[in-house]
Amino acid sequence: MKVLVVGANGQLGKEFQEILRNGTADIGKIDDCFITAEKTYVDIDELDITDIQAVKKIFDKNFDIVINCSAYTNVKGAEEDFDTAYKVNALGARNLAIICSKIGAKLIHVSTDYVFDGNSNIPYTEADIANPQNVYGKTKLAGENFVKEFCPKSFIIRTNWLYGKYGKNFVYTMLNLGKVKDEINVVEDQIGTPTNANDLAYHILRIALTEEYGIYHVSGNGVCSWKDFAEEIMNLSGLKCRVNGIKSSDYPEKVKRPSYSVLDHVMLRLTVGDQMRNWKDAIKSFLKGEL
Ligand SMILES: NC(=O)c1ccc[n+]([C@@H]2O[C@H](COP(=O)([O-])OP(=O)(O)OC[C@H]3O[C@@H](n4cnc5c(N)ncnc54)[C@H](OP(=O)(O)O)[C@@H]3O)[C@@H](O)[C@H]2O)c1
Repeated sequence: MKVLVVGANGQLGKEFQEILRNGTADIGKIDDCFITAEKTYVDIDELDITDIQAVKKIFDKNFDIVINCSAYTNVKGAEEDFDTAYKVNALGARNLAIICSKIGAKLIHVSTDYVFDGNSNIPYTEADIANPQNVYGKTKLAGENFVKEFCPKSFIIRTNWLYGKYGKNFVYTMLNLGKVKDEINVVEDQIGTPTNANDLAYHILRIALTEEYGIYHVSGNGVCSWKDFAEEIMNLSGLKCRVNGIKSSDYPEKVKRPSYSVLDHVMLRLTVGDQMRNWKDAIKSFLKGEL
């Protein structure tokens, strides 16, 4: 079996590198077929997914499974530069989908809760209608649509509030602030679920071995606000920094963010099973490794 990880130097991509190298994730061993598989890792320096000729060339290798972790993830930057975000998130995904389909490879494409408008107050299922409110979400949805259109053997994995040891993410921002501030303000009216990148990668590898193609929601279990998450990080790390809850309207931004983006894991339950940890358990175990 030949596996290609695209965007392999990003937060999630590096998590795949680690799990595939060690043969295990935090919550369990991965299938033996991944241990014996020939693995190739590329990021933008080796493969720019927006260049279809480059994609064609690298796919000479006839991969069986392609995991796309690459994306233009700068949400604020996307608002100022639609074209670049569309080029990577939509056309790049399209290029991978076209070539995967040509060689018969399965494509795992990672997407986001930002495809939803956040007006719900019950968890979004895979059957709910997407209605993105910002440029990042719009371009990611366009990428999903291209993947569905061009690659029949595809899995679209939507996740949210991702953190891992290899990224610049909310957890490290809080840890850094907690060390130097007595108090901070964090929004309390945006509700979602933090997702440990290691748990996500583990589930993606399980999904990739099936033929249960379609959209999957894979995030931590449970529900919290950014303020709850920040408080948990401070408490677990023994930091004395007080977290004050503020409203999104107190912190005006150009980018509109969904106020509610909890994902229901219907497809996981119906296929490989939902072993995603509750967000509190996952962050506790993550911080044990950090402190
Ligand atoms: N982070 C979150 O909170 C979050 C939430 C929901 C969903 N997601 C989704 O989860 C996936 C992984 O996110 P992440 O946090 O791991 O992102 P990340 O750390 O930003 O990694 C993305 C990687 O893709 C690379 N890349 C950018 N443009 C490329 C191109 N044209 N060709 C090839 N590679 C390119 C980036 O390289 P450079 O760094 O050099 O640009 C980076 O190494 C993405 O699909 C993202 O949309 C993330």
